[in-house]
Amino acid sequence: MPDTIAELIAQMTLEEKAGLCSGADFWHTKAVGRLNVPSMMVSDGPHGLRTQQEGGGVNDSIQAVCFPAGCAAAASFDTELLRREGETIGEEARAVGLGVVLGPAINIKRSPLCGRNFEYYSEDPCLAGELSAAFVQGVQSRGVGTSPKHFAANNQEYRRMTSSSNMTERTLREIYLPAFEKTVKEARPWTVMSSYNRINGTYVGESRTLLTDILRGEWGFDGFVMSDWGAVSDRVAALAAGLDLEMPASDGVNDQKIVAAVRAGTLPEAVLDKAVARVLNIVLRWADLARAPRPALDLARDHETAIRLGAQCAVLLQNRGALPIQPGQKVAYIGGFAATPRYQGGGSSHVNPYRVDSALDAAAARGRTVNYVEGFPADRDQREEAEFLKAVEAAEHADVAVIFAGLPDSFESEGYDRKHMCLPDSQNNLIARVAAVQKNTVVVLHTGSPVECPWADEVNAVLCMYLGGEGVGTAADALLYGDAEPSGRLPETWPLRLEDTPCYLDFPGDGHTAEYREGVYVGYRWYDARRMAVRWPFGHGLSYTGFVYKAAALSADTLTEDGTVTVTVTVRNTGARPGSEVVQLYIADETGTAGRPPKELRHFAKVWLEPGAETQVRFTLTARDLSYYDEKLGDWYAAPGAYTVLVGHSSRNIPTRLPLQFVTDRRRPFTVDENTPMGDLLQDERTAPVMQAVLQRFAGAMGDNGGGENAAITAEASRQMMDAMPLRAMTSFGGAQAAAALPGLLAALRAALPEKKDRE
Ligand code: BGC
Repeated sequence: MPDTIAELIAQMTLEEKAGLCSGADFWHTKAVGRLNVPSMMVSDGPHGLRTQQEGGGVNDSIQAVCFPAGCAAAASFDTELLRREGETIGEEARAVGLGVVLGPAINIKRSPLCGRNFEYYSEDPCLAGELSAAFVQGVQSRGVGTSPKHFAANNQEYRRMTSSSNMTERTLREIYLPAFEKTVKEARPWTVMSSYNRINGTYVGESRTLLTDILRGEWGFDGFVMSDWGAVSDRVAALAAGLDLEMPASDGVNDQKIVAAVRAGTLPEAVLDKAVARVLNIVLRWADLARAPRPALDLARDHETAIRLGAQCAVLLQNRGALPIQPGQKVAYIGGFAATPRYQGGGSSHVNPYRVDSALDAAAARGRTVNYVEGFPADRDQREEAEFLKAVEAAEHADVAVIFAGLPDSFESEGYDRKHMCLPDSQNNLIARVAAVQKNTVVVLHTGSPVECPWADEVNAVLCMYLGGEGVGTAADALLYGDAEPSGRLPETWPLRLEDTPCYLDFPGDGHTAEYREGVYVGYRWYDARRMAVRWPFGHGLSYTGFVYKAAALSADTLTEDGTVTVTVTVRNTGARPGSEVVQLYIADETGTAGRPPKELRHFAKVWLEPGAETQVRFTLTARDLSYYDEKLGDWYAAPGAYTVLVGHSSRNIPTRLPLQFVTDRRRPFTVDENTPMGDLLQDERTAPVMQAVLQRFAGAMGDNGGGENAAITAEASRQMMDAMPLRAMTSFGGAQAAAALPGLLAALRAALPEKKDRE
């Protein structure tokens, strides 16, 4: 700990130290006036500031720009965009004197029903991690901290404060932790917010394994851990586990418990001192940076940034030619979202926006003539036949009908999960009726998560804006008329129906536990493994131009444990318009290792190309890219053998497959005893020779009783039986000699397995 901090701590009373470990109020850390330790303010949230007005209630926040929510930002597949969003939010935070922005929110989208999915990034940990690291770097480059949240496995709102997310260690390590791991290792966030929930029965806030061993020990986190608001159960246990700051405040009640525990000798004072040092380290860092002159808040400028970013987040899901709208075409706008777009979600991330642009405002500002009929309201499921008839008539008399649809606010929010994946009936109904009379029907979606689209085959085009921030109307206008190029990709699978989703039977659990029975098969890992049809796959998104890949190559055919292999591919814009392509690299394990998803995203890159232009994209592969988390080893592990490097436009559009061999001396722990199946021994190159020799010796008795095709035991059946036979079967079937050879065989097999290679 730095000297100044150690000196401060030495001067503090026990009460002052305990006090520093909880908030002064809803949004501030405590000051220690006599030692010049200032109070630091923290505020939500992930996509804009929700900074409470001086003296106001929790719903009175200052005006700030509302940027694309996590669902939309992730659809950009663009680390530069996330960095820019972070920088702009960081500047606003500096301008208003904040110390820490409470975000990014990076929990994995286990089910499309999670009420907070609109804040979260993806079903895929690689995508979520890369984007989150860029966002954190962006904010922190402006001298303000971040708090990646909610660490960890907080994947539902139902009973979020007590429910236990139950899963294997492998699932936790491979799916629910890597986004945090990447963020911590690459972006060094000032703080991390621990989540409300339990994991396998233990509150995350009381988990030494998560908060100390993994977060600090393995990943090198050097900031402080703060609790989600009201997440602390046993304050003393939480402090001992590594939860430094309780938020918001407990009115001194929990501080006194800390004091009492230290006095009683049940909590070492050194543990408290460490937590205080971590809090002070960040508060003083902020105070130091905050001495520089504050930038002015420029909301008008930031609003323009929000528009630009919003346009780059939209995903063109389908287009049979209706888009972009051509000059001179007669256009009908239908649906309440054209006048009142949904651009953010409800709960702690809710921003009091500077200005909201609707598509109708944008059309007016650009002098476009559109015939608007509300058709259905944006805030509820309401069907009025007269409005429907007007809408259908307007569509019939237009060249293009654009329906602005989406989820009303009450359908998805922090605090509760969705019960279904449907749009309001009134919207589905009107879309179908409009599509029946207008072949150029375009649906623009404003949702924070996937919805079932029963009309997808009837409409011409679908443009998903997600919750695109306060500039969403202007962004949609630019995309519809071709003033901007659609370039987003789906950060999550859009399934055909809710019943297809991986945790359909287990979500959200019984209110006490949520069993993560689907394991690592989350999102496309599940749909691919089951070869299921989906509405739109992970990574999918169209453009107004087209791209081809050429000359894909690996720098070597073989990757070694500590080596790297470079993947290069040339991307060419073959269309007539500029546009962006997202090159996605997946890895498929072909070694026969059980339980691995068919493929997993490991890298991606977004490139902008003029028509006819091309560029080379490069990725560097390491052993970690091939690995899974092996519980026996307690480490990441890739089996030696064959892998395929897949380079594609989406998870289901992969033009390029490159074979790669992995060579390693590492092996999983292999313990041989009398119950080890002979098949395992025959498959391992170290034990196979020993085993083969023995089988030859006792061929007749042990295995060689396979007959022809019509025999009771065919040769194939005999082989399979041998594969499954434990060593002890030598005693049952091999006769006295084989039985006598067993102890010697066990010794020889064990001698063939040097322990150091197993890293046991
Ligand atoms: C949310 C956090 C948020 C905090 C403060 C909690 O209810 O889960 O994401 O940062 O409130 O508003």
